Amino acid sequence: MRKYKIAAIPGDGIGQEVIPAGLAVLDVLARTDGNFQLDVERFDWGSDYYGRHGVMMPANGLDELRKFDAIYFGAVGAPGVPDHITLWGLRLAICQPFDQYANVRPTRLLPGIQSPLRNVGPADLDWVIVRENSEGEYAGQGGRSHRGLPEEVATEVSIFTRTGVTRIMRFAFELARSRPRKLLTVVTKSNAQRNGMVMWDEIAAEVAAEYPDVRWDKMLVDAMTMRMTLKPKSIDTVVATNLHADILSDLAAALAGSLGIAPTANLNPERKFPSMFEPIHGSAFDIAGKGIANPIGTFWTGSMMLEHLGEPAAAARLMRAVETVMADSSLHSPDLGGTATTEQVTNAVCEALLKP
Ligand code: NAI
Ligand code: MG
Repeated sequence: MRKYKIAAIPGDGIGQEVIPAGLAVLDVLARTDGNFQLDVERFDWGSDYYGRHGVMMPANGLDELRKFDAIYFGAVGAPGVPDHITLWGLRLAICQPFDQYANVRPTRLLPGIQSPLRNVGPADLDWVIVRENSEGEYAGQGGRSHRGLPEEVATEVSIFTRTGVTRIMRFAFELARSRPRKLLTVVTKSNAQRNGMVMWDEIAAEVAAEYPDVRWDKMLVDAMTMRMTLKPKSIDTVVATNLHADILSDLAAALAGSLGIAPTANLNPERKFPSMFEPIHGSAFDIAGKGIANPIGTFWTGSMMLEHLGEPAAAARLMRAVETVMADSSLHSPDLGGTATTEQVTNAVCEALLKP
């Protein structure tokens, strides 16, 4: 029996609803598979923990997490705590020291789900966005001076390193090569940002030479939003900076039906540290506690986690169960225009997994 140690961090808001749903589904999946076991430990880190301790996670938090094979993360963010404290105190406090530099965000229009785009079906929208997850605009460089005075100044400096850009380009070209269309779009803004983004383009071209079998093109980020909405079929794999991909992947999720479906993996490809798997969405306090959060993004995230752990058959079986359930519109949650609750969707996926 193969065993994997999973650290579950539900976090805040609907993270508290979708992670337990995801664990229930993974439990049924592991039991019906019979070849692997998930040994799950839960951590109560997040904004409530912050309220009690003044920090989002304990000082030895990373040392605790290091012992796990993967982290299954919900979301952080609560009305009473500034967002930059929750994000930097927990999510980025894990991603950055664990060097999870490749953020992989698949977007597919699942059968049964309607895209807001007219005449777009499952065959027209099947993308993977690779987000540089360790530097760029979210490197944390900058500062504030003259606080509170009229001359107050704040800087937010983007950081691009040759190492950081090269490794994300290689990762993206490898991923593009592994997909049938072998097509990569490099998103940039090198017309207006003439330093970091120009180096980004140069390195893309250098790395492209190592992948003659991958077709690639370059797209300014503003034009990319148009291409995503008007010519979705022309896109396959995408690589973009931390900020650009953050924005584009929310758009991608909306075009594929709902933010509630979208999964993501924060990978340390060298496996020196555990990788972290989370739905793209945040803590959604507008719907928290109502039992209507869509758990599909968390299930899909669980499938990505299994794939990373080396259980591709179970990962694929989970996605088939998700697709079976999503094909039935009576099992769509309100974000998809339906009335199903988190519990109903979760039970339906568990039942689909129990069918031989
Ligand atoms: P959000 O992703 O939480 O919600 C955006 C909209 O999508 C809301 O209307 C919400 O109800 C809906 N939505 C999101 N997930 C859903 C789901 N599973 N099912 C149904 N509807 C869903 O983003 P928002 O509102 O900008 O941020 C709320 C909080 O979450 C903030 O504190 C923010 O900082 C934090 N956040 C945390 C993230 C993380 O932990 N990775 C990512 C994004 C936001
Ligand atoms: Mg985001």
